[in-house]
Amino acid sequence: MGRVEGRTALVTGASRGIGRAIAIELAREGAKVAINFASSEAKAQEVADEIAGFGGTCILAKANLADPKEARAMVAKVAEEFTHLDVLVNNAGITRDSMLPRMTDEQWLEVIQTNLGGCFFCTSAAIPFMTAQSYGRIINISSMNGQVPAIGQANYSASKGGIIAFTRTAAAELVHSGITVNTVSPGYTDTDMFAAVPPQLQTKIKGQIPMARFAHPEEIAKAVIFLVADGDYITGQQINVNGGAHM
Ligand SMILES: NC(=O)c1ccc[n+]([C@@H]2O[C@H](COP(=O)([O-])OP(=O)(O)OC[C@H]3O[C@@H](n4cnc5c(N)ncnc54)[C@H](OP(=O)(O)O)[C@@H]3O)[C@@H](O)[C@H]2O)c1
Repeated sequence: MGRVEGRTALVTGASRGIGRAIAIELAREGAKVAINFASSEAKAQEVADEIAGFGGTCILAKANLADPKEARAMVAKVAEEFTHLDVLVNNAGITRDSMLPRMTDEQWLEVIQTNLGGCFFCTSAAIPFMTAQSYGRIINISSMNGQVPAIGQANYSASKGGIIAFTRTAAAELVHSGITVNTVSPGYTDTDMFAAVPPQLQTKIKGQIPMARFAHPEEIAKAVIFLVADGDYITGQQINVNGGAHM
């Protein structure tokens, strides 16, 4: 018997990286999982195949979360297909790095709309379903870079700091509805997103991490599973999973 047997979960941005690991771990622990993606259908299908391979249950849920209508329609469709929605992991995120003097409005708006907007659109769409059943677990994936200066990432760090603030207010508003809302904030994690960082900078960053390595996506997933399976009395909190890089 898995730790979240019988639960249903939607993981945004689950075709790759951290979201992929979270979706697989939730399915391994017995949840039915919806795998959201924006464009990487083949990658999302690989995740679905892996889950089906160990007998798990999942569906694909394509939507560009920067589009409020698409995001909300996707959440409603998942809840209807599963007949209820217990867990929402707002994980999808992008970077569009640039130093402030050169950052364009497009770079700013795209990151804020996807990372912070997507989190709001999906959460607000999930609330009616979770409220009706007096149960919900919402986990928002922020970042260490929402808490420390992140050179070249003013848009990204603002979106991730916003997620931390959003989590606290959402938790306070929803605490009487049986819904908990928490943040998991990864440090540098070995995914496509971090692979885009120039190798020399990666080496420099690694030198600043007390545990002297990057996180594996599965290590972020473990914190999410903990909150879903064992976090009944935890809300409005943040778990940093960063190898001691920010304490
Ligand atoms: N990697 C790190 O070092 C690190 C550190 C701290 C926090 N984080 C955070 O962790 C989360 C996952 O990061 P990652 O490293 O796993 O990223 P990743 O490997 O680049 O994967 C990003 C995922 O988000 C999805 N996505 C992107 N834009 C989307 C949109 N508009 N609508 C729906 N889905 C969208 C992608 O879908 P497609 O495949 O369809 O594009 C993909 O599944 C992000 O929120 C990121 O900010 C990452």
